[in-house]
Amino acid sequence: MSHLIAPSMLAADFANLQRDIEMVNKSEADWFHIDVMDGVFVPNISFGIPVMKAIKKHAKKVMDVHLMIVDPDRYISDFKKAGADILTVHYEACTHLHRTVQAIKAEGMQAGVSLNPHTPIAVLEDIIVHLDLVLIMSVNPGFGGQSFIENTYKKVIQLKDLIEKSGSKAVIEIDGGVNDENCPKLVAAGADVLVAGSFVFKSKDPLATISKLKKS
Ligand code: DX5
Ligand code: ZN
Repeated sequence: MSHLIAPSMLAADFANLQRDIEMVNKSEADWFHIDVMDGVFVPNISFGIPVMKAIKKHAKKVMDVHLMIVDPDRYISDFKKAGADILTVHYEACTHLHRTVQAIKAEGMQAGVSLNPHTPIAVLEDIIVHLDLVLIMSVNPGFGGQSFIENTYKKVIQLKDLIEKSGSKAVIEIDGGVNDENCPKLVAAGADVLVAGSFVFKSKDPLATISKLKKS
């Protein structure tokens, strides 16, 4: 399969959200990436379930929801009701990660786990076969527009190896500082899905930028 592009709606113009959603609908992008931040797990608050529902009303593609919140178990069924197809939680925010992953699947969603830049791939060894997606953070979570951390390439290679050895079906998603320079290198290292916020929405022609990322 060729790589997928998931524009992060965190970088959209919230006063023109419907316009930006329609742009993604029309584009070559594959998923909508929805960043939920609680001001506790990360030092920023983005938006929550009401905004997610509003996006879902117009969005015609897969809803890929990235929860940067503590104790995500409390909201799993709410995000299902709000239209999430894929629900990703942070390894660092879950005491009983196996239970959380099972709860996401029991709601009929695909389950993802995200790792902060300092968290080694090896912590996934005993959960990888149960995951549909692993999201490697290539910036410290909390804000769009940060610079890509180069150590990510090494982690993608390690994760690809773990997935192949374990027989897991998980796809590898990269989030943070993605642009047309690192995108082809990430794909070559084994990445399947690239999230891009600022690079898409702050560009002059977001449709063309998405197309460029898709082809790079
Ligand atoms: C950061 C979020 C990202 C962010 C990416 O915590 O998880 O999805 O929106 O934005 P850029 O592409 O601008 O780094
Ligand atoms: Zn994200």
